[in-house]
Amino acid sequence: MSQLQLAVLASGKGTNLQSILDAIKTNKLNATVKVVLSDKSEALALKRAQDEGIPAYYVNHKDFIDKQDFEKALLEKIKSYNVDHIILAGFMRVLSSFFVQKAGVPILNIHPSLLPSFQGLNAHKQAIDYGVRFSGCTVHFVDEGVDTGPIILQSVVPVLPGDSEEILAKRILEKEHDVYPQAIQLLSEGRIVCRGRRVIIVEEGEA
Ligand code: GRF
Repeated sequence: MSQLQLAVLASGKGTNLQSILDAIKTNKLNATVKVVLSDKSEALALKRAQDEGIPAYYVNHKDFIDKQDFEKALLEKIKSYNVDHIILAGFMRVLSSFFVQKAGVPILNIHPSLLPSFQGLNAHKQAIDYGVRFSGCTVHFVDEGVDTGPIILQSVVPVLPGDSEEILAKRILEKEHDVYPQAIQLLSEGRIVCRGRRVIIVEEGEA
């Protein structure tokens, strides 16, 4: 069992970041958040990190000549903290192949649908419009596609008649807060084995 050293990238409220920090505090997750980065100056995620004494940086993509330059800056900052995993927690910018190839450590993402359904933006609206009875969230490794990497954990919620996007998002978000720390803890316990795009979860004690 190793204590994972995490960099978290977030753009918004940072409730997933908070669930990770809370799981660490309550000893449900053996990890340290070394640094938090955001592409939005107003992201509450930055404040949540600062409140915990975690280095937090706003990186404005407009300060760079192109996407690759912006991603280089993100990676430089991340690498200066010697992390072993990058956690995307509501990071609303699609990272390019360049970032994925140069990261040098596994990258995880959480997406608010049962992948491979409803990839990309507006996953809740896509699920409601399609008329599915169930949706949920997916924690997956990031590969060079958008929401296409190997799936680690999923959690299911019903889609109820009359659900608005907001109501469904809230129902799914509650599950995200359970499943993301759980997936990271499985990694810290060495219980995740990748076979191609299938992720095998090894039984406790057998890792
Ligand atoms: C979550 O629904 C996540 O799945 C999506 O963006 C939202 C972020 O929420 N990618 P928060 O910033 O962690 O509160």
